[in-house]
Amino acid sequence: MNVLLAITGSISAYKTPWLVRDLRRAGHSVRVVMSASATHFVAPLALESVSMQPVIVDPFDPTIQDRGSWHVHLARWADVMLIAPCSASTLARLANGLCDSAVMTVACSLPSTTPLLVAPAMDTDMWQHTAVQRNVQRVQHDGAIIIPPEEGELASGLQGAGRLAELGTIVDAVSRMRAENSGERTIPAATHPTGLAGRRVVITAGPTHEAIDDVRYIGNHSTGTMGFALAEAARDRGALVTLIAGPVHLPTPVGIERIDVTSAVEMHERTMEHADHDVAICAAAVADFMPVDRVVGKIKKDTVAATEHTTLILQRTPDILAALGAQKRPQQVVVGFALESTDLVDYATSKLERKNADMIVANLAGGLQSGFGTTDNTITLITRSAPPESFPPMSKAACANIILDAIERLLPPYDL
Ligand code: CTP
Repeated sequence: MNVLLAITGSISAYKTPWLVRDLRRAGHSVRVVMSASATHFVAPLALESVSMQPVIVDPFDPTIQDRGSWHVHLARWADVMLIAPCSASTLARLANGLCDSAVMTVACSLPSTTPLLVAPAMDTDMWQHTAVQRNVQRVQHDGAIIIPPEEGELASGLQGAGRLAELGTIVDAVSRMRAENSGERTIPAATHPTGLAGRRVVITAGPTHEAIDDVRYIGNHSTGTMGFALAEAARDRGALVTLIAGPVHLPTPVGIERIDVTSAVEMHERTMEHADHDVAICAAAVADFMPVDRVVGKIKKDTVAATEHTTLILQRTPDILAALGAQKRPQQVVVGFALESTDLVDYATSKLERKNADMIVANLAGGLQSGFGTTDNTITLITRSAPPESFPPMSKAACANIILDAIERLLPPYDL
């Protein structure tokens, strides 16, 4: 693919020669356009050397003009445009269509069918600034795919969200565009904004492990596939997805912020940090009980004689869905799951009320086409506004789209 890489003013621009190298190793042709600020962090000559193409910084450079239409031709050359790193200023320009630099002139000339990938990088407080987040949502709503920054050590010495996504993640995201454009995926994310486009969605997935001692835990058989399928489907609809994942063995879907947790307490803590999101989907099979005390080290078997019993004292874990429901704003949509072995609709309806959710996705425990570790699921949707709606067995990816269709019907209209 022809990849047009736009580099803007963030310290992480120093990583871009490696990004160009990795994109080329993945089989892509790369041309580079840079903002003037980016040249403070990485030399155009370095990028010219690794891309083996001239690098454009000045939109009025007489050597590139092509009768003043260089930006149109370059935008049409690209199969995908990638802005990495994307600074807070460039996000603001993108959100407003401001063509005051070479980068923005090409970005605004991009045909509507050409995907635009944006990998922001900046310090945590900048990333979390209300104006920056508003711009991210607007850019995403306009059809761009955000490759969210990661958490970690920042150039300022602080820790937090804002690091440029790993180069491998960015290269995967670019390469994935080929699959989307060749029809292997059915919903090209960048071109079909829907009711979820630009919305912030937090999803819990997988089991939790409640430590008994340093080597044993209470857990369950959840594999996380339903939550991960929901995360991917929401991303494909243009949502900005945060996935709070319990201990599972699933790869992180491209373009999704993943936060790994182990216990229910941790999952509760990290989820509540995202309680202001437009949509919360609790797909995790959170353990309902945890040991009151975690034993340091390993409990030796011989502490209990072969003929004796021993007792594990348990307490309830925090109920994340109920906590989200309790502080729900009128505009938010909170969705839970109910895995039941009998009286599916009755139990799920009582969960809807008790946890103040807007929808419960009920499924029967057991069976080949429902529940933990299966590829398929058999769901019934319970809401306040419509009678229960049952669906035949289908893949978890197909279930995810049915659930998201229902969520979109519950969401208020855009307020941009
Ligand atoms: N859930 C949660 N936090 C918990 C327990 C459950 O967020 N500590 C969420 C699950 O993610 C799911 C929903 O609540 O969306 C259903 O959980 P479940 O444990 O089945 O419901 P309860 O009513 O708590 O339990 P039971 O079925 O045993 O009555």
